[in-house]
Amino acid sequence: MGISRRLLLGSSAAAAAGSAAGCSLFRAASATGSAGVDMSGPSATTTTGGSFPPGFAWGVATSAFQIEGAVAADGRTPSIWDAYTAIGGRIADGSTAAVACDHYRRWETDLDLMKQLGIGSYRFSIAWPRVMPTASGKVNGAGLGFYDRLVDGLVARGITPVATLFHWDLPTYLQDAGGWENRDSAGWFVDYAQSVFARLGDRVGSWATINETKIITQLGYQQGAMAPGKRDTLASGRVMHHLNLAHGRAVQAFRASGAHGQIGPCFALAPCYAADENVAPETVARIDLQENRLYLDPLLRGSYPDGLESLGSDFVHGVDSAVRSDDAAVIGATVDFVGFTYYTPAIIGSSGPVQRYPVAANGWQQIYPQGLHDLLTRIHRDYQGPNIVVLENGVPDALGEDPIDDHHRIDFLRGHLSAAHQAITEGVRLTGYHVWSLLDNFEWAQGYTQTFGLVSIEPATLRRIPKASYRWYAEHVASRSR
Ligand code: FCB
Repeated sequence: MGISRRLLLGSSAAAAAGSAAGCSLFRAASATGSAGVDMSGPSATTTTGGSFPPGFAWGVATSAFQIEGAVAADGRTPSIWDAYTAIGGRIADGSTAAVACDHYRRWETDLDLMKQLGIGSYRFSIAWPRVMPTASGKVNGAGLGFYDRLVDGLVARGITPVATLFHWDLPTYLQDAGGWENRDSAGWFVDYAQSVFARLGDRVGSWATINETKIITQLGYQQGAMAPGKRDTLASGRVMHHLNLAHGRAVQAFRASGAHGQIGPCFALAPCYAADENVAPETVARIDLQENRLYLDPLLRGSYPDGLESLGSDFVHGVDSAVRSDDAAVIGATVDFVGFTYYTPAIIGSSGPVQRYPVAANGWQQIYPQGLHDLLTRIHRDYQGPNIVVLENGVPDALGEDPIDDHHRIDFLRGHLSAAHQAITEGVRLTGYHVWSLLDNFEWAQGYTQTFGLVSIEPATLRRIPKASYRWYAEHVASRSR
């Protein structure tokens, strides 16, 4: 394993020449009026003198597979990530998530850590293989019961639960049935989501549907660098479309369920810049299409963007083979907020990606706070001023720095929050921000070699040790919440 977690600009789709015949992806159905986002919410004009808007959601984020452990407890069955980690050579340190942070058993300790941090919002994910562990589709009360207690525990501590329905841990029995390549996956997802809405819908404040469709498409199905480890550009197009469909159908099911709260997507965005004046604007636009608009436009504008043929004929054929005439309206179902994760910009040189800003210890992340500002103002400008939530932003421990005395992370957070604040003063309706992550955890193909937590975990004892950044964030949240 190399250090590369994600190879921005490196996907086979991007490398392919633009030779596809014209595709019909949603063009006819392109109507921004039917798609879009709810515009209600706190007004950015309430921001004065360096403060964030009243009610701003200060939070942290985690995901089930990365922290829970207890992979066989209470009827859980394996996910594609259990299967992927079991294949030799796929995880940088050969580790698994069998124990991870043992959050499944230590969740009350972790909720107390959040309470002491003073945050008002916790983004976690629900493990599908706990809720529906078998192909029978029967709901596993014990698995769902865990999240019931977690949500109660959050509410009791005054923290709003923000639940992600799918953060990459697809049950293996569904992968065996074709996974996201199979159009039925959207229906499977709705069945699962409905059972979760029915049990938790009275207390969860916000729902994120699917975590980072782009990463599943690019790393899971093009580069083979994440589960399920495929290198199949055509399949990646189908998968992307079915994930979009699953998102839209879950939004519809949520509205029909009568659950209170809000629902929205979780994009993985990367602002794109030319490295110098020799780089043609069309080149930057093509990478921006691949990194951002390909995912934003179908959900927020009701159509895939023009120019998809630049992503290669295999990819376009994959998408085209999956699209049906009614899909656009479903995928463009109105959402309540635009959620996204931000880690790195893409700097585009004449002959490929360029590293211009300080590179984090993971090797793929350039630290560029201004990129967060630019994403926020761009979403505001191009997508009708929606409510926006940063669902993840963070940095791994720095090489050569005491992980507990993590001043580089404090600098990172300070820089990004200042950029976010600047965007708010310019009118962006940002309503929340979540640090990735509360705990050092299982970082997918990087195992435990890259740790993003505000809290360290002592490997032998699993004792939680707050880092300097935890204390800094606590003070920041307290001063901004006054
Ligand atoms: C995001 C993932 C999250 C974590 C961070 C570092 O892309 O959503 O689970 O791995 O990257």
